Amino acid sequence: MMIRILQILITGYFGAFLLLLAGLGVGWSRMNLSPEQPIAFPHTIHVTRLGLPCNFCHLYVDKGKHATVPPLSICMSCHQNIATDRPEIVKLTGYFERGEPIAWNRIHKVPDFVYFTHKRHIKAGIDCSACHGEIGAMKKVWRVRSLKMGFCVTCHEKYGAPQDCATCHK
Ligand code: HEC
Ligand code: HEC
Ligand code: HEC
Ligand code: HEC
Ligand code: HEC
Repeated sequence: MMIRILQILITGYFGAFLLLLAGLGVGWSRMNLSPEQPIAFPHTIHVTRLGLPCNFCHLYVDKGKHATVPPLSICMSCHQNIATDRPEIVKLTGYFERGEPIAWNRIHKVPDFVYFTHKRHIKAGIDCSACHGEIGAMKKVWRVRSLKMGFCVTCHEKYGAPQDCATCHK
C-alpha cells in the first residue's frame, strides 16, 4: 500500500514536471520566441565546433542595418560535399537546385516605427551575445531578450549612447 502511494506521488511529481516542460515549449513557440525553421540549422556545429565567425554567414552585420541570413551558395560551398546523405542536407540541396530561397522564419524583430542598426553597435564593440545570448550554444535559435524599449534605453544609459526619442524613432 505504502509503495503504491509512493508510486502515485512520484509519477504525479514527474508528470507535473513533464507538463511544465511541455508548457514551456508550447509557450516559447506560441510567443514565437523560437519558431520552427524550414531546415533545422544548428549554430552549435557551425559556430562552436567549426569556429565560423558570425559574419561568415551574416554578411552585412557590420556593414548595415540588417545582419541578413546567408545565401544558399555559402551553405553549398561546404554541403556540396559534406554530409550530403543527411535528410536536412538533402532538403538544402533541393532548395539550391530549384533556385528557391529558404523562407527562414524571423525570430528577432522590432516594430517598423523603431530605427535599429547593427553596424553602429558592432562598430562600438558590443558583442552579439548582449542582445542575442549565446547563439553558438543554441541548437535552435530562440529569442532571449525582450528587445523592448526599456532593454534598449537601459543599455544606452549604461554606455552614454544617445537617448533622445529621435535616436530610435525617426
Ligand atoms: C554557417 C552559417 C552561419 C553562421 C556561421 C552563423 N549563423 Fe546565425 N544564422 C544562420 C542561418 C542559416 C540562420 C537562419 C536559421 C535559424 O534561425 O537558425 C541564422 C539565424 C541567426 C539568428 C536569428 C535571426 C532572426 O530571425 O532573428 C541570429 C540572432 C543569429 N543567427 C546570430 C548568429 C551569431 C551571433 C553568430 C556567431 C556567433 C552566427 N549567427 C553564426 C547561419 C549562420
Ligand atoms: C544592440 C543589440 C544587438 C546586437 C549587439 C546584435 N543584434 Fe542582431 N538584432 C538585434 C535586433 C534589435 C534585431 C531585430 C532588428 C530588426 O527588426 O530590424 C536583430 C536581428 C538580427 C538578425 C535577423 C534580422 C537581420 O537583421 O537580418 C540577425 C541574423 C542578427 N540580428 C544577427 C546578429 C549578429 C551576428 C550579431 C553580432 C555580430 C548581432 N546580431 C548583434 C539586436 C542586436
Ligand atoms: C564551412 C563549411 C560549412 C558551411 C559553410 C555550412 N556547413 Fe553545415 N555543416 C558543416 C559540417 C562540417 C557539418 C557537420 C557534419 C557532420 O555531422 O558530419 C554540418 C552540419 C550541418 C547540418 C546538420 C546535418 C545533420 O543533420 O547531421 C545542417 C542542417 C547544416 N549543416 C546546414 C547548413 C546550412 C543551412 C548552411 C548555410 C547557412 C551550412 N550548413 C553551412 C559544414 C558547413
Ligand atoms: C548592449 C547595449 C545596447 C543595447 C541593448 C542597445 N544599444 Fe543601441 N547603442 C549602443 C551603443 C554603445 C551605441 C553608440 C554607438 C556609437 O557611439 O556609435 C548605440 C547606438 C545606437 C543607435 C545610433 C545612435 C545615433 O547616434 O544615431 C541607434 C539608432 C540605436 N543604438 C538603437 C538601439 C535600439 C532600437 C535598441 C534596442 C532594440 C538598442 N539600440 C539596444 C548600445 C546598445
Ligand atoms: C534606444 C532606443 C529607444 C529610445 C531612445 C526611445 N525608444 Fe521608444 N521604443 C523603442 C523600442 C525598441 C520600442 C518597441 C517596443 C516593442 O517592441 O513594443 C519602442 C516603443 C515606443 C512606443 C510604443 C509603446 C511601447 O512602449 O511599446 C512609444 C510611444 C515610444 N517608444 C516612445 C518613446 C519616447 C517618447 C521616447 C523618448 C523619451 C523614446 N520612445 C525613446 C526604442 C527606443
